[in-house]
Amino acid sequence: MFCHIVATQADGGIGLNGNLLHRDREDLKFFAEKTRNAIVLMGRKTYESLPPGGLVGRIHVVVSKTIQGALVFDTVEKAVRWCITRSKLYNRPVYVIGGTEIYRATFPYTTTIFKTVFHDRHKEADTFYPEIPDNFIMIHTKGTNTQYVEYVNLDHLSGQPSHHLP
Ligand SMILES: NC(=O)c1ccc[n+]([C@@H]2O[C@H](COP(=O)([O-])OP(=O)(O)OC[C@H]3O[C@@H](n4cnc5c(N)ncnc54)[C@H](OP(=O)(O)O)[C@@H]3O)[C@@H](O)[C@H]2O)c1
Repeated sequence: MFCHIVATQADGGIGLNGNLLHRDREDLKFFAEKTRNAIVLMGRKTYESLPPGGLVGRIHVVVSKTIQGALVFDTVEKAVRWCITRSKLYNRPVYVIGGTEIYRATFPYTTTIFKTVFHDRHKEADTFYPEIPDNFIMIHTKGTNTQYVEYVNLDHLSGQPSHHLP
């Protein structure tokens, strides 16, 4: 399973000055449950926004050309390849947790998107979730002011090669 998980405003805003826009207890619980024991893939700025030591119990994979580390890759493709092979080996899902360019570059490999939309909250944002490509369809939605939406990739369902290793 290769997923995106993201919390946005209605305008797609996800962050400002390196921080989340909204800290919603229910949504953070949803995030924690979904990503428990997962491989979490992220850009360097999202990694730096996490608490020291990162997220307990998850394997952190970071994309960066400026920092180094055991699980830091200098291209998204190398990071995705590592995540997909280890996902099979360790039987753990992969969750892409941001930011913008990492989400954008990983749509082709993504089977499922979990998007939370805060319709009743708005702040200035400098970081946005990209437009979801047409080959994704919404299969589940719950809630009104805070809407939990799940999308699946039709190419993946129909066995097209878009999710194959880069
Ligand atoms: N609401 C949410 O669900 C959510 C989720 C995630 C993040 N956020 C927010 O979004 C913001 C961070 O996201 P962001 O988009 O600004 O940054 P980001 O994707 O987390 O990090 C950007 C950095 O990742 C590396 N990177 C990205 N694409 C790359 C590529 N193709 N090849 C090599 N390296 C690449 C680069 O690191 P180097 O500069 O080191 O090379 C780049 O500067 C924060 O405000 C965070 O709180 C919100």
